Amino acid sequence: MTVRFLDPTLINQIAAGEVIERPASAIKELVENAIDASSTKIDIVVREGGRTLISITDNGHGMPQDDLMLAVERHATSKIPDCDLFNIRSLGFRGEALPSIGAVSRLTITSRTVKADTAWRLSVEGGKKGELAPASFGFGTRVEVRDLFYATPARLKFLKAPTTELSHAVDILNRLALAHPEIQFSLMDGDRQVFSYGANKDRIPSIFGKDFLENASPVLMEREGLTLKGYISVPTFNRSNAAAQYLFVNGRPVKDRVLSAAVRMAYQDFLAGNRHPVLALFLEIDPAEVDINVHPAKAEVRFRDTGLVRGVFMSALKNALHEAAHRTSSAIAQDAVAAFQRPSSPMPSPSAWSGKTYSGRSLPGSGAPAPRLAFPERRLAPGLAETIASYQAAPVTSAPTPELAPQPSEDYPLGLARAQIHSAYILSEAADSLVIVDQHAAHERLVYEKMKREQDSHGIKRQALLLPEVVDLPEQTLKAILSRIPDLAQLGLIIEAFGLTAIMVREVPALLVKADWKQLIQDLGAEIQDIDATLSLSEQLNEILGTLACHNSVRAGRHLSIEEMNALLRQMEATPYSGQCNHGRPTYIKLHRHDIEKLFGRR
Ligand SMILES: Nc1ncnc2c1ncn2[C@@H]1O[C@H](COP(=O)(O)OP(=O)(O)OP(=O)(O)O)[C@@H](O)[C@H]1O
Ligand SMILES: [Mg+2]
Repeated sequence: MTVRFLDPTLINQIAAGEVIERPASAIKELVENAIDASSTKIDIVVREGGRTLISITDNGHGMPQDDLMLAVERHATSKIPDCDLFNIRSLGFRGEALPSIGAVSRLTITSRTVKADTAWRLSVEGGKKGELAPASFGFGTRVEVRDLFYATPARLKFLKAPTTELSHAVDILNRLALAHPEIQFSLMDGDRQVFSYGANKDRIPSIFGKDFLENASPVLMEREGLTLKGYISVPTFNRSNAAAQYLFVNGRPVKDRVLSAAVRMAYQDFLAGNRHPVLALFLEIDPAEVDINVHPAKAEVRFRDTGLVRGVFMSALKNALHEAAHRTSSAIAQDAVAAFQRPSSPMPSPSAWSGKTYSGRSLPGSGAPAPRLAFPERRLAPGLAETIASYQAAPVTSAPTPELAPQPSEDYPLGLARAQIHSAYILSEAADSLVIVDQHAAHERLVYEKMKREQDSHGIKRQALLLPEVVDLPEQTLKAILSRIPDLAQLGLIIEAFGLTAIMVREVPALLVKADWKQLIQDLGAEIQDIDATLSLSEQLNEILGTLACHNSVRAGRHLSIEEMNALLRQMEATPYSGQCNHGRPTYIKLHRHDIEKLFGRR
């Protein structure tokens, strides 16, 4: 076969294969063109998820006749005036979106500039350019794409159901709308309005839902010419995938590995690997510092100084998380309020309570005995006293008696412990609220932070076991653990192979000396096998540390005295990020006094 040049229509179809994957990609290109044309209003209509019709009308500067004829030609663009690929301030720059769309659909463009007496219309069908004709139209541009992919039936087969295609379109439009709040946007699916965003309105609540801002921390950092702004969710407000992470570089929605990894690292201590925060982050950077020409759909970018960008992300996010550290998700408090049920019928009279009078021993209506309240004990649970003392807890005043209980003050945001319920939760009274602490989750966080501090300073303190513990393990788990002997040693865990099927634990982190070693080693084996190999070594070590910390924590089911509870509360106040455990669950919730008053109909 002889070598020959490809036919131009074929070239455009090949380009379309990369740029236009589905209706949402065509919509993205066309809306970006409208944004580049300085529009202040962009109206989008789709039918069948964009397969049969995409129509985009803008009020931007439009195109004169000659430009219109050129715009649908490959490599024709008005957007790189100084031929400098590293000084691009527009969203488009390649001059290939319109010819690509024209090659695979029936495309009609109608456009009019303010100087023109009339609008002009041009059609392209399956790559064949029609005649330019005058048309009646206001100022701006309307681009209509009918029967997308009719000219490339193979691609047509890959399209999903209209609702799926529509949801992709909504996603990309939301991203563009978030980045350009000065522009009005509307989307119609046939005759149904999907959204209509007014100009300069805060779109975050419409796009992320009302409760996002209540559970988000603002981010703002300027450093070395970079500006990072936006909102990130507190760790307790998380999702099962990263779809609700909106990242922008110079107003361009991107999916960038460096940025996503920085987000993951910033949250690493607060979220289990399979949970993801919700966020909208806008990075402004000198265009010369970023290459936007690395992905066919311009969805990825490459930074010149990756380290700087990563550093700004990490410190901005960590600062924001730090500020949020003692706040817990308001959604949780709201859920808690909703979970309390007020009796739907009026209170039964005492005689209706199965003939018993209410003596305080049983709850009205429930028939069940009242939960036993744990009143202060002067004796510390065996073993726990040392553990807690090892945190150098703020001095705790001697055990209060219930009658003389000291009054909560602003000095103790987590209040004073009043009781333990279900041997798992601490009830504490703060100046303005009732605090419920999950003792296991809270303790897990404290142990983790403490171990991390030790690791960062002089290394984790170890203690030799008097009797080395031998743990039998299944082959895969054994292999996984043995492969990590040096890493585990860094974390204070000294182990060695014992025969062919077991390991021997010789030394352990001092803080974990009382843990159930069999269980811990088994869990550790599972964790190591699951560990995400793309994480850096220190991230991997932190994941392992999280598993270790979880094991020494005060288990649910352990009885605590008031002193121990107060020691835990004071420790939590003194420990950064104690608002959530290492798995992103809250460690405490606060019911504000006004919420409680609401429950009782006092507000
Ligand atoms: N809505 C519009 N209003 C005004 N001019 C437009 C509009 N859409 C396209 N154009 C003009 O048509 C040209 C070609 O558009 P096209 O999308 O094919 O390429 P581009 O935007 O320059 O680059 P890219 O392929 O990266 O999007 C643009 O450079 C612009 O001058
Ligand atoms: Mg374009």
